[in-house]
Amino acid sequence: MIDPAGRVMMISGANRGIGAALAQQFHSDGWAVSLGARDVDALQASVHHWADQNVSCHPYDALNPVSGDEWVSATEELHGRIDGLTNNAGIGHMESLADLSEELLDEMWSVNVKGPLRLIQRALPLLAISGEGRIVNVVSLSGKRVKGNFAPGYAMTKHAFLALHHAVRHATFDEGIRVTAICPGYVETDMTSSFGVDPAIMIQPGDLAETVATIVRLPNTATVAEILMTCEPEVLG
Ligand SMILES: NC(=O)c1ccc[n+]([C@@H]2O[C@H](COP(=O)([O-])OP(=O)(O)OC[C@H]3O[C@@H](n4cnc5c(N)ncnc54)[C@H](OP(=O)(O)O)[C@@H]3O)[C@@H](O)[C@H]2O)c1
Repeated sequence: MIDPAGRVMMISGANRGIGAALAQQFHSDGWAVSLGARDVDALQASVHHWADQNVSCHPYDALNPVSGDEWVSATEELHGRIDGLTNNAGIGHMESLADLSEELLDEMWSVNVKGPLRLIQRALPLLAISGEGRIVNVVSLSGKRVKGNFAPGYAMTKHAFLALHHAVRHATFDEGIRVTAICPGYVETDMTSSFGVDPAIMIQPGDLAETVATIVRLPNTATVAEILMTCEPEVLG
């Protein structure tokens, strides 16, 4: 297992939901965490009960192309290193095929695919210096299968994100970077609050975060490409 002490992990969309759970879990494991969110005041308010000198908060808006560059630069300036990047920020427009507009699809493409691509490209040289760099891509089971008539545009962008994930995994292996995709089904967050599914049966963000943090600590000789996590019977493939 690698020792997270002294290592720096960036996490996007860390102000709520899965990102907040991942941020707190990585921090309690010993990582210094560099958190990105659209509203830095809201981010600071959401972490104030556990934040210490190992937590920094930065603006990050996936719809603003320079925002990711600025966040990576600020993290490098503060810590002098970056060892991990967790691409968590994402949006889901759940419209049916008939109601899926190009505007909604473009927004999901920008946040769910182009945002992670930019952050990965900008952070890669620093992750390579680490020698044990880690990237976590928060994809979805919607990157693995299409769930009937549910959310086709979201599934399109998450399939694309999973393709990016595997491209990065292959391209960075020789530099000691290990890349893991977490592909969950329903997780109890704001995103699923209007789905009409009983929250009591859903994956808890803390359980997901603990699983991911364990995988991330594995040495370079033991890498997990995809974690498929579900709370219900699923037909995959
Ligand atoms: N919940 C699930 O069942 C589930 C299942 C599979 C995968 N996922 C994926 O898990 C990730 C987190 O989802 P969640 O369930 O925690 O959803 P959530 O509670 O809705 O949180 C979404 C996060 O993404 C951020 N975000 C949205 N647009 C952004 C933008 N333009 N730039 C930067 N950040 C932006 C949000 O920031 P604001 O607070 O500023 O809006 C928020 O921090 C997403 O990628 C989602 O697709 C979720």
